[in-house]
Amino acid sequence: MINLHDIRYLRVGTHRLDDAVEFATRIVGLQLVGREGKAAYFRSDKEGGRGDTRDHTLVYFEGDPADHRIGFDLCNPDDFDSVAGELETAGHPVREGTAEEAAARRVKRVLMTQDPTGNQIEIVARAFHSGVRYFPARDAGITDFSHIGLRTGNARRDEAFWTTLMNARVSDRISEAPLLRINTCHHSLALFPAPGTGVQHINHQVEDADDIMRSCYFLREKGVKIVFGPGRHPLSSAIMLYFEGPDAMVYEYSVGVKHIRHAEDAAYRPRQFPFDDPYSLCMWGSRPDIREFSKTDAKPAVHAV
Ligand SMILES: [Fe+2]
Repeated sequence: MINLHDIRYLRVGTHRLDDAVEFATRIVGLQLVGREGKAAYFRSDKEGGRGDTRDHTLVYFEGDPADHRIGFDLCNPDDFDSVAGELETAGHPVREGTAEEAAARRVKRVLMTQDPTGNQIEIVARAFHSGVRYFPARDAGITDFSHIGLRTGNARRDEAFWTTLMNARVSDRISEAPLLRINTCHHSLALFPAPGTGVQHINHQVEDADDIMRSCYFLREKGVKIVFGPGRHPLSSAIMLYFEGPDAMVYEYSVGVKHIRHAEDAAYRPRQFPFDDPYSLCMWGSRPDIREFSKTDAKPAVHAV
């Protein structure tokens, strides 16, 4: 069992790096912490948020917009040497990153592997933290980079990858799509059936519901396409807002995500939500304009509300 601690960073390719930097800072509200060569690094962790200060949580690099790499750190970095063997034994491709690749990720060591769909997963040891206070370009109220939606070619198969080889647990499911936790947060990862590979949405937590509504008006004023919300997810209890970024990447702000504390973890039973009921995704009735969220597998339900 590979014991992951948390999602650490996301690396996303783009052909328009300057535009991506502008969007990440002026629209999303991340802090640009540096540009090195053909990559730009962003921070999002406010002290008092997740109680962590990751060196960076998002990187845009010049490259294929379909090239997404998701980094996870280990609960115990001493496990690093055994992780490669576990992945190999389970039949997954694995290689240790070079010193240059580790340096570019601000970690001591990095392993590159893939999930069964072919998503690029990186497992890191001794990732760097920052002693500098988070100071964003725009006050969006962001407290931390929290989770991603990931494309899957076979949700049941990929769920098994995360729950048997890794320490993920299913918090809830919408149809076949599992929302997976690797710590107390309701989900760090959500697998959505979709063609291809890569990240389907990027979530940042914000301080309160006011931040969601402030950003809703701000994004409208800036002409940013809002694709879902404002609304509230019945699964995680979070109030949310989704909008479209560079290369059609979907960004999400949310607040109030449920935590399943360690004492409750063993007894927690995943709930099943139907995809055919639009209220499964938003209990306020907002309708998503997001391909992976719009796909239904049955007739719409009728609600007396
Ligand atoms: Fe989300």
